[in-house]
Amino acid sequence: MNFLKRQTYMDYIWWQKGIIYQVYPRSFQDSNGDGIGDLQGIINRLDYFEWLGIDAIWISPIYPSPMADFGYDISDYKDIHPIFGNMDDFDKLIKEVHERGLKLILDLVPNHTSEEHLWFKESRSSRTSSKRDWYLWKDPSHDGGPPNNWLSVFGGSAWQWDENTSQYYYHAYLKEQPDLNWRNIEVQKAMFEVMHFWLDKGVDGFRVDVMWHMIKDEKWRNNPANPDHKEGMSPYNSLIPSYSVDQPEVHEVVAKMRSVVNKYDDRVIIGEIYLPIHQLVTYYGMAQQGAHLPFNFHLITLPWDAREIALAIDQYEGALPDQSWPNWVLGNHDKPRIASRAGLEQIKVAAILLLTLRGTPTLYYGDEIGMQNVNITTKEAQDPWEKNVPGIGLGRDPVRTPMQWDNTENGGFSTGKPWLPLPENYKTVNVKKQQEDPSSTLSLYQRLISIRRKEKALHVGSYVPIPQEGDLLAYIRKAEGASLLIILNFGSKPASFRSEQVKLKGKILVASDLSKEGQETEEIIAIGGNEGLVIKII
Ligand code: NOJ
Ligand code: CA
Repeated sequence: MNFLKRQTYMDYIWWQKGIIYQVYPRSFQDSNGDGIGDLQGIINRLDYFEWLGIDAIWISPIYPSPMADFGYDISDYKDIHPIFGNMDDFDKLIKEVHERGLKLILDLVPNHTSEEHLWFKESRSSRTSSKRDWYLWKDPSHDGGPPNNWLSVFGGSAWQWDENTSQYYYHAYLKEQPDLNWRNIEVQKAMFEVMHFWLDKGVDGFRVDVMWHMIKDEKWRNNPANPDHKEGMSPYNSLIPSYSVDQPEVHEVVAKMRSVVNKYDDRVIIGEIYLPIHQLVTYYGMAQQGAHLPFNFHLITLPWDAREIALAIDQYEGALPDQSWPNWVLGNHDKPRIASRAGLEQIKVAAILLLTLRGTPTLYYGDEIGMQNVNITTKEAQDPWEKNVPGIGLGRDPVRTPMQWDNTENGGFSTGKPWLPLPENYKTVNVKKQQEDPSSTLSLYQRLISIRRKEKALHVGSYVPIPQEGDLLAYIRKAEGASLLIILNFGSKPASFRSEQVKLKGKILVASDLSKEGQETEEIIAIGGNEGLVIKII
């Protein structure tokens, strides 16, 4: 669909034109030497965001929490964890972010609270508690075991027995993260109030945690077995979560969340949703009254293969409902880093892909310098997932290590002992060094972002695929008479690109190999192995 025909350029909103950057706050910048990143640390690094050219910062949870799941177990939705600072620090952060023309997106975790949240303490205190129905309490099944076969994502049954009141409660994640009952109107009201609290403070939107989990089957039916489950896969995947996630009524809840933000100007709701494309796009909602951006994780979940990715782009473009806005994500705090998944030799290709596809890109901190998964020993492991289901690569510590800022001790992240170790390579792989080197990955990111901002074809233009074979992926982005041709080589062998479909006379605007920038192109374009080109057609 061509947005330009329907919207005037001025109609595009910041979260459509812009670029989102995810900060994992524990690992971004420590300001007080305790080895854990904090809000003042983020404030100290605001110049970096401006230099890089991103538009919005999304910060993973910073609220009070026992940290069983590093902040995704919230004990108070309306305060700041002392590890990260206090409300004054937050107010200062939002003020400074806005003064620089940037936006701030918070993480909202509505599916579950911490077991330490007052709501849960009250709920578990007795069967007649006024908040009993705020969580999901059930009697044992006939054999005295859990009410059904549902599994926790983090290992074991999703049901925890409560001695005191002789019932089970449901937790999709840790037992320390009881799920809220979103069919209860009081729960809805309480969470909408939390949203108002932060929106009134001026936050520009929310990334909503596990949006597709929020409503469960009303009849609590058993999930079917997954015939494709193999040893070595997460035990959670031994069942297909047909009844525990993605229930039709979730869309009513999402629409209500949307109507909360609709009361404010230009705020955004981003949904964390791991679902196949045709299910994912339903989260845009009826008449576009769902999430503005249901996160599209297909660049993370698919093999790094030109054909698979080309197909996914086409399917996604084809499945998008009218008037909905696409988005793409290359990495996050839960999944292996792109530099490790696709290989270091592909990180520039990945950068060009992310920043030239149609739709809002989300970058994960550190990917822009090619940070890799860091090997974390069993002794150093922090992530509860790794501790519960050890040794099969589920742990997320390797992708949450401190940002590598420079070659000083601890990479400039902290003067104290970092909560997770930095890899040895921080002395050579760091922001400062790459800022000084025009041929670095970081410099490529910075140039790409600046060109994406300048070229309407890139930030709001249409997408036209150019069918290819083998390791090549190619497409055109077009707006107001300008055409940009993007050619990416997912393989290591040089190739030549030709096409009847497009004029190839142009000029290379951005290239993974800096020396090619500014060169002119003719009918046949030579492209090296692991190379990416952005060409302005003339
Ligand atoms: C998704 C978050 O991204 C992840 O880090 C967290 O562990 C789970 N949701 C549970 O909140
Ligand atoms: Ca700190």
